[in-house]
This record gives sequence, C-alpha cells and structure tokens, in this order.
Amino acid sequence: MQKPSRFILVIFGASGDLAWRKLIPAMFDLYRQDMLPQQFKILGVGRKTMSDEEFRNKMAGGLPQFTSGEFYNPDAADTFCKQLVYQSIDTGNPQDYTTLKSKLEMLSCEIDCRANYLYYFAVPPVMYATIAANLYAVGLTSQEEGWKRVILEKPFGHDLESAVRLNSELLHYFNEDQIYRIDHYLGKETVQNIFVVRFSNSVFEPLWNRNYVEYVEITSAETLGVGSRAGYYDTAGALRDMVQNHLLQILGIVAMEPPVNSDATSIRNEMVKVFQSLRYMPEEKVKDFVVRGQYTASDTGSEHNKAYREEDGIRPGSETETYLAMQCYIDNWRWSGVPFYIRTGKMMPARVTEVVIHFKPNPHKIFARKNEMDDVSNQLIIRIQPDEGLMLKLGIKVPGAGFKVDMVNMDFRYSSLEHNHIPQAYERLLYDCMLGDATLFQRGDAVEITWQFVQPILNAWEKDKTIPVYTYPAGTWGPKESDRLLAEKGFEWRCPCKNLSDGGLYCEL
Ligand code: BG6
Repeated sequence: MQKPSRFILVIFGASGDLAWRKLIPAMFDLYRQDMLPQQFKILGVGRKTMSDEEFRNKMAGGLPQFTSGEFYNPDAADTFCKQLVYQSIDTGNPQDYTTLKSKLEMLSCEIDCRANYLYYFAVPPVMYATIAANLYAVGLTSQEEGWKRVILEKPFGHDLESAVRLNSELLHYFNEDQIYRIDHYLGKETVQNIFVVRFSNSVFEPLWNRNYVEYVEITSAETLGVGSRAGYYDTAGALRDMVQNHLLQILGIVAMEPPVNSDATSIRNEMVKVFQSLRYMPEEKVKDFVVRGQYTASDTGSEHNKAYREEDGIRPGSETETYLAMQCYIDNWRWSGVPFYIRTGKMMPARVTEVVIHFKPNPHKIFARKNEMDDVSNQLIIRIQPDEGLMLKLGIKVPGAGFKVDMVNMDFRYSSLEHNHIPQAYERLLYDCMLGDATLFQRGDAVEITWQFVQPILNAWEKDKTIPVYTYPAGTWGPKESDRLLAEKGFEWRCPCKNLSDGGLYCEL
C-alpha cells in the first residue's frame, strides 16, 4: 500500500455538514487502514469561533455514526482526533490569511511535512475564487516548498457560462494539475468497477458496440425528497444536480474507448472524447428528448408524502424538476444509432443506481419462449448501489420436452467477497488526491463540455414555458410520459428493486 507523504488537510467550511458526515469519517477510515502517513494534521477553518477541543469533540461525535462500523473503536477515535486543530478566520477577508499562513507554518514544522497542503473547499461555490485568490496572495498556492492541491465540491458552476468563468478564475491562482474537481460518483467502487469489467475481461468488449447493443439505460433513483437542501435544490433541479455531473460521468465510463493505460491522462482523455461526441440537442427538440417531472403528494401505506411544493423552503409554484428522463446519442464509430436513456428522480419507489446494457436479440429465432412472449434478449445489469454487483440475464432451456427458453440470472455480489469493505467515495478520493492521482477527478475541459451538452436543455426550459413539468405521485417511477421515450422504439425501462436479482413491478421496498 502506497502511503502519501506527510501533509496537512485544510478544510474550509469545517463546521459544516460535509466535514462532519463525510470528510472526517473518511479520513478516520483511512487512518484505521493505515493508509495515512505517520504524521498528518487536519486543520478546520471557518468563520465560527471554536477551540481545538470543541472542534475535536464535534467531529468525534460523528465518527460512530458515519465511519465504516468495522473500523470504529473509541480509543482509535481519540488518538485520531488529537490530529485535528481549528482556526477561525473570515474566509472573505484577505488579512486573515496571514494568520492562516502562520498557523500552517507552525503545524508544518511540528509534523515536518514540508508545506504539503491539501485544501478542501467545503463552502458554497461563490466562495471558491475568493478563497483561491486569498491563498494565492499570501503565497499559499506556490509549490516552491511542498505540494499544494485543492479539492472543489460540486456544483461546479450553475451553467456553462459560470463554469467557464470559474475555471478561468481558478487558473489564475492554481495550475490545472493542482485542481481536483470532485464528483463523488467517480469515487464509488462500483462505478470504477465498470471500467474494470469492461477492460479486464475479453468477453464483453467485442460486444460493447452498436452491432450488439440495442440500448443502454442509466438510472439513479432515490427514495428521499429534497430534505433540508431546499435552498440549493430549488435553484438547481435534477438536471444540474445529478445529470450534468454524476450520470454523465457514468455514461463516460460506459461508453469510452479503451484507454492506452490506466493513468489519469489516458482515462480522462477518453472520457472527454465521449462528452465531445454527445449529440447536440437543438433547443426546439428538447421537448421530444427530455421529460421532466415533479413529485406530488401521495399516501403510501400509513405514510403521507408531501408534495415537492409543500416541502420547507420551496418557492410557491416552483417548476423545478425533481425527475428527469432523457434520450441521447453518442455520435461516434462505436455507438452510432444506439440510444442511451438516462433517468433520475427523487421520491421514487426504490433507492437504486444501475446501468443496464440491453443486447440485441438473436437475428433468427429457433426456440419459443416459455410463455411465448417477447424475444430472448440478454441484459447486463451493473448495479452501482445498493446490493452492489453485476448480473447477466441469459436464456436457458426449460427442463422437459421440447426446446422452451426461460430467462435466468447469473450474478456476482460484492457482499459475497471475503474481503468486502467497500470504501466510501470520499475515502478513495481523498486518498488519491493525497497521492496526486487525478484519475477519478474531473478535468476542467470535461466539466465545460458536459455543461455545453446540458445548456440547450436549460435554455429551452427558460425560453419555452409550454414545455411541461409533468407530475408524479411521490413513491412512483416518475411521470408516465417518460415511457414514451423508450416506447417509440419498442423498449421499456427496467423497474429495478433494492435486491439486484429482483425486477418488475412488485418488489420489496
Ligand atoms: C448529490 C446530490 O451530489 O448526490 C444529491 O446533490 C443526491 O441530491 C446525491 O441525493 C446522491 O448521492 P448518492 O451517493 O446517495 O447516490
């Protein structure tokens, strides 16, 4: 196991939820697996006044809940938390950065880390350029002495223009190879597994193209609603929140050409080519290829689910989409003519993220189906979460007279592995960044191209108020109109269940 060199992780916005729920627990899990250097420090930075002790206690309080259960131990948590320190500054005030610099110099001497600093901007994106400029002004982005890297949370921009502007502002203060734009989906073990399944097996790659694949579905459904994030979500919606980033990244990995090797440049170059090949959607066609929806109130069993518009903090009459389904095409040699369907939504019947590769049926049918219904067509289901794994649907002979065919499932589940600790996304991403490996982070050009793809959709919705926002009762699979996207080609969405091998209308919720 490669260990990073000694460093200080500086979390801006350290009193917020992200540090407590994700970042500190991920660092603790790395610590417990002996993946951190012998000496390191975590410096929390924020406006709030807090002593080191108060910061440690607050972060320690989240560990039992948010670390992987197998690693939690109160004594280890105590030793780990001793590495946490806190500095209160006004991040908008340039003068306060001299205080920050002195603090860092002191800590750097203490652990002899030669000014290797990893900055994590867990703050609203409007603050990114200001903090970067203030760090730059006091020499805290210079790599003369030790490396300096910065991790930026999403959303990276609100639209194409703001993403381009943000990229160019940041590049005044950091080099591109110092900037790590996070998309936590790329940190998911099962998303990385798509890459390994494709390029470590010889059986899939020959079939992975327009000759054998009929269509591809990418679904990310959530059972929760907007929760306490109304302020952000109501100005974002599903397209910005899930599609421009997470789902297009999955599409990139599913559709990319084999890279020359597995280094960051080779992989990220291939991802960018996929995004460049996405067929441009003219604004007047948006209503044909994209269906948006919003959940309405419903009663499931004894529970009453509120409508989106009734949730706290949502603007009255809001038209923000909590559901989106779209058909898109990748205009390149491999995928010409193969539709890709993307769907995401809140308040759906199951929390499931998966990719389904639908292979074309046989050209000539010599067997009948057991129930004399549809064609036998193979599907490869790549389950990202939950019940992580892979499943191939195959036709087999029904025992007995004749040659009747039935479909069966051949599956692999991560839970069946002897060593089955699935690292949390932040664990993997923080570790990679400490090592300077940017493979699982988004490059600036990739972010801009994905915004370029979604921008006509945003424009169309902005300009043409007749494009409907369909409704769907909370707890259902989205508006019926989204079926049309597939039905016109004779396809249908898979109805996934929590359990990988179940599918269809009836499953355990
Ligand atoms: C976040 C979105 O990026 O991803 C959330 O802002 C969404 O709205 C979340 O709920 C989904 O992530 P996961 O890992 O729970 O699938």
